[in-house]
Amino acid sequence: PLVTTGDLVTRAAAARAAVAAFNIITLEHVEAVVVGAESVDAPVVLQVSENAVRFRHGRLLPLARAAVAAAERAAVPVALHLDHVQSDALLRQAPDAGFSSVMYDASRLPYQENLAATRAAADWAHAQGLWIEAELGEVGGKDGRPPLDAHAPGARTDPAEARAFVTDSGVDALAVAIGSTHAMTTRTATLDHALLKRLSGILDVPLVLHGSSGVPDDELTAAVAGGITKVNVGTALSIAMTGAIREFLTAHPEAVDSRSYLSVGREAMARAVARIITTLRRPTTA
Ligand code: G3H
Ligand code: ZN
Repeated sequence: PLVTTGDLVTRAAAARAAVAAFNIITLEHVEAVVVGAESVDAPVVLQVSENAVRFRHGRLLPLARAAVAAAERAAVPVALHLDHVQSDALLRQAPDAGFSSVMYDASRLPYQENLAATRAAADWAHAQGLWIEAELGEVGGKDGRPPLDAHAPGARTDPAEARAFVTDSGVDALAVAIGSTHAMTTRTATLDHALLKRLSGILDVPLVLHGSSGVPDDELTAAVAGGITKVNVGTALSIAMTGAIREFLTAHPEAVDSRSYLSVGREAMARAVARIITTLRRPTTA
């Protein structure tokens, strides 16, 4: 059934667990994420980024309608989340398109401008009944821009600043920069667990990990134990889909029917979804 992101995150926080949120681009992604979550009997978030909307010729509704339909028929709870929104016009489409939550991303702005824009977005979102996540300390690697140097100013979330930001903006969750980077194709990120501990100690909202595709399994489970409540995954599905399709087409150069390779790509994504959710559930062996 279709549920709200706020509910899934609240439940995860109460269980000291994390809910996985997967970025969807095509109908195959929608189906794969739902099937993968059903195969391990776990709730899941389907998220659509502003970049994905741009890829869909600027239209949110076709993919959103498919996601709503899939969620309503799913055997597990599924929520819809609008991800990395910078455009106010897109933000305003969220409620009618079936989204219960948004991530408003003004993280590339200087602190005061990020705060002002985020507070305005949060006021509007709350008036609509939406749950809202924001970002402070930029998680690099978006839009194909080179990732921020891990030691560059702004590449880490400052705990005192984060506390003021959450209080003054009124957001429901915070994406934190603790060492992960978007769009990594190797799982080699090292997280700053000491910083995560300080952040989860000082903040009373759920914390969100972005760029989780580049984070190794043991780092992921440690992050969940350290207070990460929502884990955003995008690139891992691209790696699974593209790899499986490339392998299939190499083995079957005569293939023509799109369904032959799309089904292979969809199955690979579903397996990746199940694997990641299973990892997040793994107890830490510290
Ligand atoms: O918001 C989306 C996530 O941060 C995805 O990052 O593509 O590096 O897994 P990723
Ligand atoms: Zn992200």
